[in-house]
Parts: sequence; C-alpha cells; structure tokens
Amino acid sequence: MRIQDLVKKELLPIKRPVHGGQGWRLSGVEDFSHNLNPYGPPVELPNLVAEAAAHLDHYPDDQSSEFREAVASRHGVSASNVIAGAGSSEIIKLFPEVFISRKSRVIIPRPTFSEYSHACRMQGANILDVPLCEVDGFSLDMNAMLEKLPLAKAMYICNPNNPTGTLEPRRKVLELIDECERADKLVFLDETLLELVEGYEGFSCMSEVRNRRNLFLISSLTKSFAIPGLRVGYGVGSEEIVEMMGRARLSWNLGVIEQYVGTRLIRDHLGHVRRAAEMMAKERGRIKETINGTRLFSPLSGQSFFFFTRINSPRLSAEDMVEYLLPKRVLVRDCSSFGRPFDKFVRFSIKTPEKNDLLIQAMEETAQEIRSTAFVTRMHV
Ligand SMILES: Cc1ncc(COP(=O)(O)O)c(C=O)c1O
Repeated sequence: MRIQDLVKKELLPIKRPVHGGQGWRLSGVEDFSHNLNPYGPPVELPNLVAEAAAHLDHYPDDQSSEFREAVASRHGVSASNVIAGAGSSEIIKLFPEVFISRKSRVIIPRPTFSEYSHACRMQGANILDVPLCEVDGFSLDMNAMLEKLPLAKAMYICNPNNPTGTLEPRRKVLELIDECERADKLVFLDETLLELVEGYEGFSCMSEVRNRRNLFLISSLTKSFAIPGLRVGYGVGSEEIVEMMGRARLSWNLGVIEQYVGTRLIRDHLGHVRRAAEMMAKERGRIKETINGTRLFSPLSGQSFFFFTRINSPRLSAEDMVEYLLPKRVLVRDCSSFGRPFDKFVRFSIKTPEKNDLLIQAMEETAQEIRSTAFVTRMHV
C-alpha cells in the first residue's frame, strides 16, 4: 500500500507555508522578522490568563458569544456578522472550504500572505496570480485584477499587504469590492496587520459589511496585542456569509482562555494598540533616513510598520543578508519563500526606539563590511 496513492490528489504538490518570527528559538537575538506589537502584550495579560484558567473544567462556549459581541461593538456591526477563529489562520482555511470548489479560480496578488493560496489549493482551486506593481510600491494592479475578474469566483486582498507593507487607500479597496459585487464575486479582505497602522480607522473597511453582501474580512489579536501564543482571530462579513461559514466551523474552536482574554483585550486594552501604532509611525522616518543612508537596499518606502526592500548588491541574496545581521543580534525575514525575485528581498519591522537603534547599527556595520569585502575582492582580481 502506498499512502501517496490514497491521499487526495490536491495535496500531493502542496508544501507547508513558510513564516517569519522564528527568532524566539535563538537566544539574544532581536526578532525584526515578525510584525507584532513591539510593546509586547499588555502587562495585565498573565492575570487575565490566570482568571480564565479557573474555568478549564468545562467546554468553551461553542458560539464564542461574548467575544463576538466585543468584536461587533468594536467595529459597529452585529454579532451575527462575526465569526470567531483560532487565529485568523483558521478563518483563512475555512473560507475556501465553504466557498471554493475544485477548479474554481481565485485572484491572488503576488507576493502576498502564503496561507491564502495554500488554503485554496487544498480545495483544488486554480490560482490566478496577479503581480503587484513594483514601480508603484507594490500596489494592487487594479486593471490586471479586473481583467481576470470574469474568470474568478473570489478575489483576495491583504491591507497592508504582507510581505510588502503596501497600504492601499480605502477608496481603491472599495472600488474593487464594488466591481466584484457587480460581477457577483466574493472579496476576502485581510486586515490582520491594519490595527497597528496609525490612522487605522481611515483605512479599515470593517463597517462596510453592513452594505455589501460579497465582502468578508478577517482580523486578529495576534499582531495588535503581540499574543501569537494564544490563537484568537475573527472574520466579519454579511450575515449570509457568516452563517454559511458557521455551519462548517470546527466545534469549540476558541478555548476558554482565548475567549476570555480576547474579549477583555478588545473591551479594555485598545489604547495599548494605539500607543504602539503612534510610536512606530514616529520611528518610521528616522529608520528610513538612516537605513537609506547605508545604501544596502533600494529606498525604504510605505506607510506601514514594516519594510520590504530589495538588496542593492547583485552578489548578495536575502539569505546572505540574514547571515550578516545575525551575529549583530538582528533577525530579518528572508523573503525567498515568496519565490523569485523575492530571494533578493528582506522584510523587517519597526520596534521601540532602543531596539531600532540596534537595527540601524547592525545595518550600518553590515554596509561597511560589505563595502570592505568588495574593495578587497577588487584588489585581488
Ligand atoms: C497578513 C496576515 N494575515 C493573517 C495572519 C495569521 O495570523 P493569526 O493566525 O495569528 O491571526 C498573518 C500572520 O502572519 C498575516 O501576516
């Protein structure tokens, strides 16, 4: 018996997605490869977890009712517009399980968060890749997306986009949603990284689910509250979409701790997220200026709290750059998992001023090392 002959055919070419944020495995290293709130979780977190831990002797509420109420009042929608997930990752997986069948086509910009195409391919979908416009800061190519729309069942948008950090104006996203609605297509909009952007409210489309039947959004507490170890996320959509997804959802998908802590964080601790967003927006200019001065990368741009940039030297890959920076206690995201040409790109986030000093110093030292190696190489040829 060969397991390969028994497994679903869709699974055979599929590999597990690769993610950043592995710095916790290395001691003494500052991890700029993840996009978490640089202040860490609120100081009240251990108490909240302890309070919830007193209730582990029964199943969690299968409907995550209190948590969904908290999310709904935060976004000005009703609890029937909200589905809870064990991280937004669970909802990314659930959406194609409910809406995407074998041979359905989905529009996915490239590069973007790898879980979307992974989840769609698991359902046997065909991915219609639409490259982002590099000359335009890796923004969405509206014309190319709309051209493919008649072929597709759904369109994916990530705002700000992971890994590029590109922040799309609300007006442009709404235009795409409207075009999709006219053509009876679904929109999957990922706002997981948006809450840490200063001026979040001006970009978010959460409240739009009240008027748009084809829109489904996801978000998460992972990044905003720096709690990747707890799995708390959610989706917001029209009642019909949420009801359909609820039918397929895993029972008891959010644990007792996740529901309690998630509810309390949303109700009482959003100031913690806002303070981080403001601090990172202030730090952005300084990081851009100093790191651009090293000429290690193409000029840093964008309004997000992380940067995605091409390494200037034709001899160096992202892997090399990680190796230069690690002995200086700095870990950046090697973007080669997004495929070529992104093996020449790295992503790094903004942190607190002291940690950013470490990043800048590591980049400056690396630039000097690279220049002196290039000089020695020239002398010897
Ligand atoms: C854009 C984006 N969406 C969703 C996720 C999933 O996060 P979680 O499952 O922790 O909510 C991530 C994690 O890296 C992400 O970057």
